[in-house]
Amino acid sequence: MKKIFFEEITSTNTYAKENIEKIDDKTVIYANRQTNGRGRFSRKWIDLGSRNLYMTIILHPGDKLKQVHSNLTQYLSVKTCKVIETYGICPQIKWPNDVLIDGKKIAGILSEAVFRKGELKGIALGVGVNLNVTTEDIIAIPDKIATSLNLEIGCEVNRNEFLDKLIEEFFKDYENFLVEGFKSIKETYLKYVILKGEKITVQVLNREVEGKFETINDDGTIKLITNKGEENLSIGDII
Ligand code: BTN
Repeated sequence: MKKIFFEEITSTNTYAKENIEKIDDKTVIYANRQTNGRGRFSRKWIDLGSRNLYMTIILHPGDKLKQVHSNLTQYLSVKTCKVIETYGICPQIKWPNDVLIDGKKIAGILSEAVFRKGELKGIALGVGVNLNVTTEDIIAIPDKIATSLNLEIGCEVNRNEFLDKLIEEFFKDYENFLVEGFKSIKETYLKYVILKGEKITVQVLNREVEGKFETINDDGTIKLITNKGEENLSIGDII
């Protein structure tokens, strides 16, 4: 495993995508600052300073990719929760992969597959974690109520230490995850997941699906009981 560090970059995911063919499997790109950080559904990921985590793992999982691609973000959300727990905090997951503390977002995950001429070249799996943010900056984050690890534990968090813990935690079970898929993390994922049993609305592209959050299936999709019956969704955002 190799780490590549940038003082400033547009986005670790963009860099990873542009250079994916030249970069080895399991390489980690991280930066002190992102000038154009990106989130899911073309949202922006705001740069909140160099003491926060902006990192992308480059993966070339070969043939096994098809089975696991859609669940990689869920795998990384579980691993992020495990690292947050080492700071004495109880994290939560909002399906599919937002990491929260007390309902407030602390980490976001963005997975991007890179194809050239129809051939899959690899995956750029990015994560941003709020580690050291001021209360004023947290309030300024658009859309979502957010938090940061320092605000939760009441002291500064060492970014490099968090990064190393997360890399170690990620690769500990990664090979097994490639073989077993979501089933290997399902139990742990369910331990962290919030809103189960509640009435929720999921934004799926241009439509909204409303229903009771029944469970998470073996393939990581969410099962909703709507007034038209059962719906299993693989993408979307709980709103
Ligand atoms: C989201 O919650 O919408 C996903 C946010 C992902 C942000 C991370 S920060 C590191 C990597 N580089 C990016 O431009 N985005 C991801």
